[in-house]
Order: sequence, then structure tokens, then C-alpha cells
Amino acid sequence: MTRTLITGGLVITATDEIHADVLIEDGRIAALAATGSQEWSADHVIDASHKYVIPGGVDAHTHMELPFGGTFASDTFETGTRAAAWGGTTTIVDFAVQSVGHSLREGLDLWHAKADGRCAIDYGFHMIMSDVNDRTLKEMDHLVSEGISSFKLFTAYPGVFYSDDGQILRAMQRAGSNGGLIMMHAENGIAIDVLVQQALARGETDPRYHGEVRHALLESEATHRVIRLAQVAGAPVYVVHVSAQQAVTELARARDEGLPVFGETCPQYLFLSTDNLAEPDFEGAKYVCSTPLRPREHQASLWRALRTNDLQVVSTDHCPFCFVGQKELGRGDFSKIPNGMPGVENRMDLLHQAVLDGHISRRRWIEIACAAPARMFGLYGKKGTLAPGADADVVIYDPAAEQTMSAQTHHMNVDYSAYEGKKVTGQVETVLSRGELVIDRREYVGRAGHGVYLPRSVSQYLG
Ligand code: URP
Ligand code: ZN
Ligand code: ZN
Ligand code: ZN
Repeated sequence: MTRTLITGGLVITATDEIHADVLIEDGRIAALAATGSQEWSADHVIDASHKYVIPGGVDAHTHMELPFGGTFASDTFETGTRAAAWGGTTTIVDFAVQSVGHSLREGLDLWHAKADGRCAIDYGFHMIMSDVNDRTLKEMDHLVSEGISSFKLFTAYPGVFYSDDGQILRAMQRAGSNGGLIMMHAENGIAIDVLVQQALARGETDPRYHGEVRHALLESEATHRVIRLAQVAGAPVYVVHVSAQQAVTELARARDEGLPVFGETCPQYLFLSTDNLAEPDFEGAKYVCSTPLRPREHQASLWRALRTNDLQVVSTDHCPFCFVGQKELGRGDFSKIPNGMPGVENRMDLLHQAVLDGHISRRRWIEIACAAPARMFGLYGKKGTLAPGADADVVIYDPAAEQTMSAQTHHMNVDYSAYEGKKVTGQVETVLSRGELVIDRREYVGRAGHGVYLPRSVSQYLG
């Protein structure tokens, strides 16, 4: 039996802040006790004095190696999970993709093959359903029973990932009976495609028009629609990458009605804006993602919703494309810019900065970044908290360290940082995954293949 002891830190979970020592045995948390109150012996002692001891982050929305717009997201499972660990995230839930005309199983097998033996941290999968039909609806039941308990559908991207309202309703009905959770990308893609063609015909080709055609009202309309479809189906729904204030209003209204409606936002919507999309010399392409960045005024309602629990989770939607050679595919036509932004390494730090800025409390930081995503996607107890029996996925976090975010120093396989030059206070010092060191005092000591696949239970958020 190997024993590791973390002493002297401030242990922060979603519910508590306690000065405590943490004993790890064979990859799991064995016990916590008031600092210095126990005479525990250990093979390895980590001094966490003046540091926070927090659960490893759970990023429930990543796209390693996602095929999109004729290219692939530039982080592999190897590079992306290593970068995640550098940023204090010890679990990702990535999206396996079913392609039209193929089975869910084929998509899932492909994603297992991409990830197997390559990850530095543990990982699970959601399933993107691009083709809802009798056969794939039946497959959903099998997937839920083997740990793929959430399914993403799209009201956007006609011809690629898009499902019509009937398909969405049927998938929700199925989820209502098999315990799965439907995740919705909520934007009116049919209307957006008309506006895209009209904008291009007017010669509006710069990245900033990506934000203009993907109107906030087309996010809130689709959000409203998927909420009501879920209500009719008698199923819960989780809306991904919420960016518009009007969409938050729809979620809040539905929750006030008592509906099992949930939502996530992402750091890019909390810290960046249409000002970035409007950067000259095609630099705005770095910030093209969907839903798009919004005018700065939307941020206050996102922060408020994170405080009031109208939004429960902050994930990254990490989907990096290099500026050179990938984002550049859309020079002269913003609709050809691959959609997505890097961020898996930045999330915990940006949200810690939000604590310092007064947007959220320390415990809320851990709730929205660790505990809630774990509970939402059936990993809680094992992941998302520090308690006896939980996996020893632990981050020693230095709340006073100062850093400047930059592509020069980050570990994501992408040639720019969305937060280039941003100064934040707080930095990951040491990371353990199931009791094994992955980052040791800012040195990477992990290995590809340490991370294991995590079959997930159904959502634990529903009661
Ligand atoms: O722009 C984004 N979000 N790219 C990834 C795919 C998605 O819709 O989440
Ligand atoms: Zn096939
Ligand atoms: Zn999406
Ligand atoms: Zn995504």
C-alpha cells in the first residue's frame, strides 16, 4: 500500500473550507483530519502550507481531435489531457461523434481508439448524435448502460450535426425513459445559415460577422424551443455553451417553473467579447466559436446566473485550431473558419481570478468547476470532491502566484492563446491523479496512458 500525505493546506470543496491534512492510500482519499491532529505516517509527504488543496477540475466539454470544417482540432488526447493537468483539471468528458449514416457504436469505438493509452488524466465520453432514427434510438439504451449517459444534439450546423425538432423530441423521450441526459447546442442554425449567405453576398467576410449573424435572439429562441421540447418529452435538458443574456433568461424562467433544466457557460463568454472578434488583420478568427462571443454587457448576467445556480457548470468547450493553416481557412469567408477555441488549461485559473474579482466565492469556484460537472454527468463521489473513498485527484493550488497567460508558456497544442498577456493571480503547483503525481511543483511527471476511461452513471443532479 502506498500512502501520501498532504499537510498544512486549506482544503476547499464545494461545501467546506477547512485547514486539514489529507491522507491518500492506494489512489484514493483515505481520510481528512484537522491540520496536525493525526500522527499519520506516509511514504510521501507534500507540504501544502499557504496553499489550497482542491479537487481536480472536471471539464465536461472538450473536443480533442474533433473533425470540423475540413480539419481536426489540434490537441490530441495526449497533448490535450497533459495541458488539462497543467491547468489543474484531472477529468475530461469529451464528445465522441456519430457521423450521419453510421451507428453510435462506430463513433464510440473510434473515440476509444483515439484516447486509449494516450491520456494523462481520466476521461469519459458523451455521444454526439448526428442521426436520430429507430436504430440509433435503440442504441442509446445500450450506451447508457455502459457509461455513456449523455447525448449532445444540435439545432445548429444544418447538414452536419443538425437534428430537426422531431428528432430532438424523440431523443429526449428516449432519454426520459433510459435515464440519459440530452445536451443541446441551442442556436437556430437554419436561420443563421440564411443570414450567413446574406452577409457574404454583401461582402461582409471578416470574423466579426460570425458574431453578428449568430444573433443572441437565435440562441434564446432555440434555448426556449429545446426547453419546451424537453418539457413535452418529460425529460431533463442541459444546454451547453450558453452565451446570451436572453438565453439565460429562458433557463431561469424554466427553472422557476420547476423544470429540470440545466446550463453551462464557458470562460470565453465570461472573459472575452465581440471586441475580440473585431480584432483587425483577421486576428478575430482566433475567437470564432459557436455560440459566439457576445458584447461585454452579456457577461454580468452569466456571472449572476453562476451565483444563483441558474447556470450550474463552467466547461471549456476546448476545441483548438491553430491560427496558421487552420483558422486561416476562413480568410475571405468567415463561415469557413473552423469553430472553436482553446482553453482546457486556463479554466481553473480564470475562475480563481473570478473569485479574486468578486464574481463568485471560493466554494462556488469548486462547485462550478469540479463538483457540479461531476454530479451532472454521473461521476460524483469518485470525482469532484475530496472525501474518504473519492479518487485522489488533488490539486495543490498557490493562490498568490502570479502568472501571465501566453502561447509561449501554455501546454496546449495550439499556436495562440485566447488570453495572451492576461495577468492572473493563482496557479497550479502540484497535481495528483488517483494518487499519482502528474505535475510536481510545476514539473510534468505524468505519462500518456495513466488516464483511464470512466464509465459514468446517469446524472446525479436530478435528485
Ligand atoms: O465552436 C465550437 N463550440 N466548436 C465545437 C463544437 C461545438 O459546437 O461545441
Ligand atoms: Zn457505418
Ligand atoms: Zn456546440
Ligand atoms: Zn463543444
